[in-house]
Amino acid sequence: MANKILDINDLKREFKMGSETVRALKGVSFTVDAGEFVTIMGSSGSGKTTMLNILGCLDQPTEGKYLLDGVDVKTLSRNELAKLRNRKIGFVFQSYNLLARTSALENVELPLLYNADVPTKERKEKAMHALEAVGLAERMNHLPNQLSGGQQQRVAIARALVNEPVMILADEATGNLDTKTSYEIMALLQELNKEKGKTIVFVTHEPDIAVFSSRTVTLKDGRVIKDYKNENVKSAKDTLAALPVEKDDEPKKETA
Ligand SMILES: Nc1ncnc2c1ncn2[C@@H]1O[C@H](COP(=O)(O)OP(=O)(O)O)[C@@H](O)[C@H]1O
Ligand SMILES: [Mg+2]
Repeated sequence: MANKILDINDLKREFKMGSETVRALKGVSFTVDAGEFVTIMGSSGSGKTTMLNILGCLDQPTEGKYLLDGVDVKTLSRNELAKLRNRKIGFVFQSYNLLARTSALENVELPLLYNADVPTKERKEKAMHALEAVGLAERMNHLPNQLSGGQQQRVAIARALVNEPVMILADEATGNLDTKTSYEIMALLQELNKEKGKTIVFVTHEPDIAVFSSRTVTLKDGRVIKDYKNENVKSAKDTLAALPVEKDDEPKKETA
């Protein structure tokens, strides 16, 4: 039997706003097997971020059950939850969320600072290894503002990988990137999924991004309205190679 990494059942999340209650999730159920690459689709306000935050243990549901790798997160103390999250999950956001005055390498080392088992030397090695995995080893001493948007997102992905999590959760991770750079990021995620077996849950509202995943769950008004397997997964690498070359893409002079 496949190993269920995520198992959510009748998840609800309400936000009290003064006298009003916003029902962001109205009973969402699905499971994700280890090794799947799932996109979560839905228009703005459909509940995607609310759900991803719960999946990432950044938020708690008002009602419903959530098993993360077989563990009912409700039974965990704050400390245990933080540990589980740190070990199992890597988060990638739309806005990269890198520390500004901090090098790429130090940004990637950050999650390891919360892990007392990892000594300083090993921390650096692991961070370098993660930067290598995203193709940015030679940029490790650059500050975020010395990197392009796509490179910054790669650093964020390296940071998400550094603890060797089983799962990557991404919220509109290509939302700030142009088409070509978006495809590059998707090619990287496809590689991490295929070669390293990472489970990926990727929130997007762009249908041309969802074609790179093996399954799409669509939310509308806080409910799942569609959940289908993609029989014809497109290769982001091939799609990238087929893009017409534009003038802007010509190699730029190294400035930083
Ligand atoms: N912290 C919050 N407080 C109040 N309402 C919220 C909060 N977070 C989200 N919502 C509401 O919940 C609904 C779903 O939001 P969200 O999950 O951010 O949607 P999406 O990511 O799909 O755009 C929206 O109506 C939004 O206004
Ligand atoms: Mg959102």
